[in-house]
Amino acid sequence: MDNKINKSFVYGVSVSGNNFTDRVKEAQRLKMNFENGLNVVLISPRRMGKTSLVHRVQEIVDKKIIQTVYVDIYDCRTEYDFYNKFAAALMKQTSGKMEKALENVKKFLVRLTPKISFMPEPASDYSISLGITPKEYSPEEILALPELVAKRIGKHIVVCIDEFQQIGEWSDSLTVQKRLRGVWQHQQNVSYCLFGSKQHMMTNLFQNKRMPFYQFGEPNYLQPIPTEDWIPFIKTKFKEKGLIINDEHVARICEIVQNQSSYVQQLAWNVMLNTKDVVSDKEIELGISDLLAQCTPLFMEQTGALTTYQLNFMRAIIDGQHNQWTSKEVLEKYNLGTKSNIDKLQKTLIDKDFVEKRADGIYLADPVLQLWLQKQ
Ligand SMILES: Nc1ncnc2c1ncn2[C@@H]1O[C@H](COP(=O)(O)OP(=O)(O)OP(=O)(O)O)[C@@H](O)[C@H]1O
Ligand SMILES: [Mg+2]
Repeated sequence: MDNKINKSFVYGVSVSGNNFTDRVKEAQRLKMNFENGLNVVLISPRRMGKTSLVHRVQEIVDKKIIQTVYVDIYDCRTEYDFYNKFAAALMKQTSGKMEKALENVKKFLVRLTPKISFMPEPASDYSISLGITPKEYSPEEILALPELVAKRIGKHIVVCIDEFQQIGEWSDSLTVQKRLRGVWQHQQNVSYCLFGSKQHMMTNLFQNKRMPFYQFGEPNYLQPIPTEDWIPFIKTKFKEKGLIINDEHVARICEIVQNQSSYVQQLAWNVMLNTKDVVSDKEIELGISDLLAQCTPLFMEQTGALTTYQLNFMRAIIDGQHNQWTSKEVLEKYNLGTKSNIDKLQKTLIDKDFVEKRADGIYLADPVLQLWLQKQ
């Protein structure tokens, strides 16, 4: 990111430079995978730092041997939306300058007439739209492109596909998945880093034996950044502004939001805005209530659509219930309806990303929503 002002804390967008902390081990590991041509699958709950991490790895890989291509497919609604974005990203990012990109489109995609549009910022940036339809190119021809380009530029290409879970939403998704996997697993000079947010969807795509992408690459579950790494990061940011925060208060910030990266930065920023010189418990509490206020509109909207049973289920979790859902006591205590209700309740709440399954039971996915519900 091109930061003209020195922002203390950044949240909601991917971060780089001195807004990015730690992740040294994860970045090294991914770098090694990239440089050794291994496919990677990266999974984590929302806003933990997948996109930022992949961008970091793009910066540190050995560019003499590796060319990375990043494509976010969040807005791709169909298979061909994807091919268009995929091919455009490939052409642009392996070419650099616009003239070169157009030259490469001519070389690799002769049947197309690409359109170029210029970005307002930075002035030299542009986007290509290729307008690929099944009439011009088959899926296999598009999917074969990275291999051709890799040979041409004499580098191994790593295609990084963000929000990959989106593929599960396309019509005839299973056929498309089979198609992609079929082509990708035979490519010699290209590997793939697939990552995305909806954890249950990602898990289903990659961990389900019946799915085409089962065991496609090394699965990496991105863990939260530990408190001990947040401490120096946050303390330094405060110091830069002439403010002081001690280790315990940083630890408290992390604990409140269960170390979820985006919330850590947001809460730290709130605390900073409330601080005149030294952080005390009071500033932390003010920061938390600001955070809850900031989230309230969204949470109201999200929870407004829930049924009473679903809300009861979430309240039970907040109360410390994570297992034994079908026991008579639990069903009665939390008013969850009948035994047969439970499966459906769980499934819907997981699908909607409200709750997640961990090794030892069911938990709320969003620590701030949890706090918010507790205060209601
Ligand atoms: N390594 C990091 N150091 C500091 N902050 C980070 C780091 N990684 C993530 N964050 C914080 O988390 C926020 C979200 O990061 P990012 O967009 O990379 O996560 P993501 O997992 O890709 O999110 P999403 O699930 O929305 O795609 C950032 O804006 C930043 O506040
Ligand atoms: Mg992301």
